[in-house]
Amino acid sequence: MRLELFLLVAVVLGAAGKPLSKAAARNKLLLISFDGFRWDYDQDVDTPNLDQLAVDGVKAKYLTPPMLTMTAPSHFTTITGRWVEDHNVVHNLMYNTTTNIKLPFKQTMGRSEWWDNGVLPLWITAQNQGLRTASFHYPGGGATYRGQAVDRALLEEFDHPDDNETEWRQNIDLVLSWFSEEDFDLVTLYYGEPDNVGHRKGPDHPDRKTIIEQIDRTIGYLRTGMDRHQLTHSLNVIITSDHGMTTVKKRPQVDEIILNDYIKLSSVSSFEILDYGGFGILEPKPGKEQEMVDALRKAPNLTVYRKNEMPESFHLGRSQRLPSVVVVADLGFNLNSRLILYINKGDHGFHSGEMDMKTIFRAFGPDFRKNLLFEPFDSIHIYPLMCKLLQIQPEAHNGSLAVTEDMLQLGGASHRASQSVLLLLLSMLLLLTML
Ligand SMILES: *[C@@H]1O[C@H](CO)[C@@H](O)[C@H](O)[C@H]1NC(C)=O
Ligand SMILES: *[C@@H]1O[C@H](CO)[C@@H](O)[C@H](O)[C@H]1NC(C)=O
Ligand SMILES: *[C@@H]1O[C@H](CO)[C@@H](O)[C@H](O)[C@H]1NC(C)=O
Ligand SMILES: *[C@@H]1O[C@H](CO)[C@@H](O)[C@H](O)[C@H]1NC(C)=O
Ligand SMILES: [Zn+2]
Repeated sequence: MRLELFLLVAVVLGAAGKPLSKAAARNKLLLISFDGFRWDYDQDVDTPNLDQLAVDGVKAKYLTPPMLTMTAPSHFTTITGRWVEDHNVVHNLMYNTTTNIKLPFKQTMGRSEWWDNGVLPLWITAQNQGLRTASFHYPGGGATYRGQAVDRALLEEFDHPDDNETEWRQNIDLVLSWFSEEDFDLVTLYYGEPDNVGHRKGPDHPDRKTIIEQIDRTIGYLRTGMDRHQLTHSLNVIITSDHGMTTVKKRPQVDEIILNDYIKLSSVSSFEILDYGGFGILEPKPGKEQEMVDALRKAPNLTVYRKNEMPESFHLGRSQRLPSVVVVADLGFNLNSRLILYINKGDHGFHSGEMDMKTIFRAFGPDFRKNLLFEPFDSIHIYPLMCKLLQIQPEAHNGSLAVTEDMLQLGGASHRASQSVLLLLLSMLLLLTML
């Protein structure tokens, strides 16, 4: 009897030690971005659903976006795992420094020549490995890459309202049905809030708190929807954003910067994008670079960089698209060109090291650990995590799975199942010996 028992235990342990014959089942992935969700926006608002997510999944203390902290560049870093200098989506506006054309943000969304610069976003990579993917308003999702489109892509209309809660819920219903009825593997879903209200009213305005409550209800709606669609055990969800938001500093608190007070811009620059938050770009007229840089360096509350002298840590300097001169304002200062036309009360585009530029990262689902407060990390590392979750081979990228993989349950769902079977067997054996 003793020997038989010993043999049985040995057999069970041996079986458990063998590699699993079948890999863990692939779960689906939903990536949601709430534009401009500063890392601490949930700390002065009642957010029961976001709080519950932290219990049921992973919450990073905060997430650091890439330089530059702007919507299109940052979203594209998340979906490619590449620094902005490599993917070259260096602005929200598609521009041409020769023709001086600047296309508005939403028009830029559909222009493949702005997005397709040789770096493949996750949708395309996943599709090429047999998965089905979709993009719902996510920046870059409406372009084609080497001629290849995302399987299903919805672009925001020009007059799309950012804050319609009914529409937010409809979008969730639709996306969940793509997973449950059409077997999509990856969907990226984008919302234009709280960025919009942060710009118009400022991050400290009560309306910002109201929109965070709306986001919180939407997350609650998502979770009941996942149950209804029977996706709770097969869908991983990552909720993140592209940058934070800071209050624009105005008179009389500060002297606002007007760059034209330091040099006649039209005499030295052939192209510029200014009056656009904390980040400005200028192309000097031939032979005028030194004069431009010297003069702008006399302006307070900003830093002037020549492209080829930018700090390595910005990962911007190698961009072929970026003009020769870049200006980054100190936190909260707007880079006004000639007049103070500026009506925004909040903005971004400032240095990604500033706490006000930090943003959020939350994740939950079958492959994520629970009740885990994660140390801050850079958004560049989300890409390898998503590839791991989807069980696909990543493209060359600048992230590292080592940074984020501790969020994951060891070995995935089926490994855990076999562990619990083993435990059950062992306790039955124990019972037998006691009889
Ligand atoms: C800018 O426009 C000019 C003139 O149409 C064109 O030759 C050039 O290729 C464009 N540059 C870029 C980077 O698209
Ligand atoms: C909000 O969206 C719903 C559903 O799309 C629509 O019926 C409604 O008219 C919208 N409300 C506003 C104020 O735009
Ligand atoms: C802006 O620059 C002025 C002049 O150098 C300086 O006195 C002031 O402290 C700066 N303001 C901030 C908020 O850094
Ligand atoms: C980012 O990744 C690309 C592709 O592997 C590589 O060419 C580039 O040098 C990397 N950038 C940095 C700063 O390591
Ligand atoms: Zn944004």
